[in-house]
Amino acid sequence: MITEKRHGWILLLLCVLVHVAQAGDPGWRVTVQTDQPGGRINPAMWGLFFEDINSGADGGLLAELVKNRTFEFPDGLMGWSKVEKGAAKGTLEIRTEAGRHAAHPHYLRLRCEAAGEGFGLANEGFNGMGIRQGETYRLTLRARQTGPAPKALRVELTAPDGRVLAATSVSGLAPEWNSHSAVLKATATEAKARLAIHAMEPGALDLDLISLFPANTWKNRANGWRKDLVQLLAEMKPGFLRFPGGCIVEGRYLTNRYQWKTTVGNPLERKLIINRWNDEFKHRPAPDYYQSFGLGFYEYFLLCEDIGAEPLPILNCGMACQFNSGELAPLSQLDPYLQDALDLVEFANGPASSPWGQLRASLGHPQPFHLKLLGVGNEQWGPDYLERYAVFHQALKAKHPEIKLVSSAGPGPDDERYHFAWSKLRALNADIVDEHCYARPDWFLDNAARYDSFNRQGPRIFMGEYAAQSVKTVSPDNRNNWECALAEAAYMSGLERNADLVVMASYAPLFGHVERWQWTPNLIWFDNLRAFGTPSYYVQKLFANHRGDTILPTRLTGPGAAQAKPRVFASATRDQKTGEIILKVINATASPVEVSILLAGAKKILPKGREIILTSPHPADENSLDHPKRVAPIENPLSGVAPEFRHWFKPNSVHVLRIGAASTAKKISG
Ligand code: AHR
Repeated sequence: MITEKRHGWILLLLCVLVHVAQAGDPGWRVTVQTDQPGGRINPAMWGLFFEDINSGADGGLLAELVKNRTFEFPDGLMGWSKVEKGAAKGTLEIRTEAGRHAAHPHYLRLRCEAAGEGFGLANEGFNGMGIRQGETYRLTLRARQTGPAPKALRVELTAPDGRVLAATSVSGLAPEWNSHSAVLKATATEAKARLAIHAMEPGALDLDLISLFPANTWKNRANGWRKDLVQLLAEMKPGFLRFPGGCIVEGRYLTNRYQWKTTVGNPLERKLIINRWNDEFKHRPAPDYYQSFGLGFYEYFLLCEDIGAEPLPILNCGMACQFNSGELAPLSQLDPYLQDALDLVEFANGPASSPWGQLRASLGHPQPFHLKLLGVGNEQWGPDYLERYAVFHQALKAKHPEIKLVSSAGPGPDDERYHFAWSKLRALNADIVDEHCYARPDWFLDNAARYDSFNRQGPRIFMGEYAAQSVKTVSPDNRNNWECALAEAAYMSGLERNADLVVMASYAPLFGHVERWQWTPNLIWFDNLRAFGTPSYYVQKLFANHRGDTILPTRLTGPGAAQAKPRVFASATRDQKTGEIILKVINATASPVEVSILLAGAKKILPKGREIILTSPHPADENSLDHPKRVAPIENPLSGVAPEFRHWFKPNSVHVLRIGAASTAKKISG
């Protein structure tokens, strides 16, 4: 029988045991060598991969609301429908006038036989048009009368139930082609509006280049970009923007490759082509997906400037997509491809007196864009690529040694194609090799130390496309969940530890329209009015916003077996301006983990700092249009910081600790 006195002793003993256990070695220990800084971190380390996939540009970032505005889709009336109100009657016909304009020879003839309450046409937009109450929309079109014809048109924005959300008219139509414009002010918000244009009297008219933009675009630019989407990009503080892709650089065949010269000049008069993602996936057909190039190379450079990102254009190197035709431009016929690259450097950096610099100046940008990086080919592989890359390398290095070239290691991170490319690119002394990796979350966890022992002689690395796939690559069932984002964070801690070698990284793809996507997962999803960042977005943002400029060597040791396949990860950097140590710890286990943190060599540590935590209770958690911030970071004050201290890390979490410290750095190497 236990007496009351003995009971008291047992309780006391238990308390002591618990205390001893708590005070004992937590098992996990991270040593940050604060007095032995490693390499310098590229200020452009964390960036963006942009491609017109999933309606990223047309129907996405480009704020144009009209689909097929030039009637140049192969089905010229795609996106348009006939409107016959009341007793109205008439026909719509696509006509061609050879020699009228090489990029848009087609136009629409509207024949109104009976006007009734309005005869005309309506555009469905990109699965509808997103219209906001109180905002204004600018319509532009070209028109001419043919014979006896109406002098004016009635223009409306309507809701699916027929409600008129905005109305105006276009007048002064004449027998010659003229440009006309009108402003519409919306009385209600609607995600699925459409644009209707009616003749109110009988007669025939020709119409072309019908465009509708919100006035409220990013920086209120004409031919502008969706403000909410650019805002999400700007908040990431991206170091670079890679454009325009992705596979669309290559095209299914070379005729459909991306050619930057056709994407500059008057946006409405750029020649459209089929989007490579139009018919790529049988399970996600997108028959109305074309590239209007309303967002072209000039706009990409402007966007880079706006969001403080280094431009990284990727050019075709004479190879169509190797997942499609793999068509090759013979080596003896590479000159036009090469010339495109040389001219692009002049367009971006040349003086306004040079031919291509003059074009840039005439578009409104006399100052250079300071291009420093250029990609040769997208995701190419094999001897055909390496031969072509060598030609570009030689020519560009001779003329523009100041430009760093990005070459491709192929589509996988560790296959034969990858090793072949690396052996050749090392021999060529290439600048930066672009590695791609789409894999299951476990791959990212297992490979977080991939670059710790990588050969540091030779090219630097651009982790140019990566994203954890919850099911498998190109599965339409992939989810942008917390499990994937956490695995990417673990992997990124490895990139950061090795930032002397891995100089750039970008998640891919960037955008996905919730109704118009072909590929999942994506960093940012949107509909016609709203947008949200996925958990992966917040991981990217955390790393970019808390980058630091110098690597601080970090050693993480764990308890016993945990070290074999660690699920706790760490990296550290220093912000030279503030002197802060930035420690990132990723706990990819389902339990809280206590870590003993040793700030080796630190002279003066402030006891207080701040901590940013990104976590979510369930690995399957996601953000959505209705719950855009279910998984989003929170910031707390951090106390009890000392040269050696302990800290708890939540289950399944990314923690960023910003620790105030006097800089003891002697000299930054690298
Ligand atoms: O990011 C989607 C696609 O994946 C890119 O277009 C291509 O480069 C890669 O295969």
